[in-house]
Amino acid sequence: MNAAVDRADFFKTLAEKSTHGIRGDYSLADDHYVINQDWGAYTPEQHALWRRLYARQARLLPGRACDLFIDSLARLNAADGIPQFEVASDALAKATGWRLVAVPGLIPDQVFFEHLANRRFPVTVWLRQPAEFDYIVEPDVFHDFFGHVPLLFDPVFADHLQEYGKGGLKALTLDGLAFLARLYWYTVEFGLIQSEQGLRVYGAGILSSGGEIDYCLTHPAPHRTAFDLERVMRTLYKIDTYQETYFVIRNFHQLFTDTQPDFTPIYARLKTLPSLPAGMLLPDEVTFPPN
Ligand code: PHE
Ligand code: FE
Repeated sequence: MNAAVDRADFFKTLAEKSTHGIRGDYSLADDHYVINQDWGAYTPEQHALWRRLYARQARLLPGRACDLFIDSLARLNAADGIPQFEVASDALAKATGWRLVAVPGLIPDQVFFEHLANRRFPVTVWLRQPAEFDYIVEPDVFHDFFGHVPLLFDPVFADHLQEYGKGGLKALTLDGLAFLARLYWYTVEFGLIQSEQGLRVYGAGILSSGGEIDYCLTHPAPHRTAFDLERVMRTLYKIDTYQETYFVIRNFHQLFTDTQPDFTPIYARLKTLPSLPAGMLLPDEVTFPPN
C-alpha cells in the first residue's frame, strides 16, 4: 500500500468532515500518525484552561462516574495542568501494558485500530479554545485523556479495547465498520454501568461532558436499557445532541464476553435488517429508572 496516496485520501475525507477546518498539524506525523506531544509548547493559559476543565469535571464525578474511573483518574495526577503523556504511559504500562501515543487529531480508521490492537491509545495533543469550554465538535486532549485513559488501568477493560482494535481491522475486511462504530459509540463513548448504588457512567463522551454526565443519569427523557450486542449494533446515534438511548452493562466482564463471538455471521445478518432509530424502545425492553 502506498502511504502517500493513503494520506491524501484521508485528508480529503477529513476536510469534508471537519466543518471548522483541520485543526492539528499533521506535517510531522509518522506513518502511524504519531507525533511528539511537545509538552513544553503548551502555554500557561492552556494549562489554566485544563485546570478549569478538570476541576469542573472532577466535582461532577462522585455519585455519577463508576468507582473504577474515579480511582484510576486519581492515579494519573492530572489536576494541575495538561499532563505529559510519557509520564502517564509509564504508569499505565506498569498496570496493563498500554501506552499513550500523541496524534494531531482524528486519524484514519485502520491506523486507529492498529494502535488499539497493539495496546496503544492515541491521544490528541491540542486543547480546545476557552469559548469551547462546554462543547467541542472533535475530540481534544481533555476528552481523550480525561475521558479515555483512566479505564485503561482496568485489566478487563484494557483487554476489551485491544480486542476491539483487532475486531476493527477485521470489520474493515467485512464491510462491518458501521456496526462496530455503533458498538464503540454506545459503550466506550456513551456507556452506563450498574452499581449497587444505581446507574453509573463509564463512557468517555459523557465523562468529559459538563452537561450530559448528569442528564444521562437523572433526566426522565432518555431511554436506559440493558446492553444487547446486536440491538446496539443496529441502533443509529446522535452526534450533535445528548443521546436518546443509553445502554447499560452489568460489569466490564459482560462487555468482554458479549463481544467475544466471531462477528462475521452477525455482520451478515445485520446487513439484512433495518437499522433502529436512536430514540426508540423495543416492545420487550424495559428502561432503568433515573437515579
Ligand atoms: N469478536 C469480534 C469479531 O470477531 C471482535 C471484537 C471484539 C469486536 C471486541 C469488538 C470488541 O469481529
Ligand atoms: Fe472518544
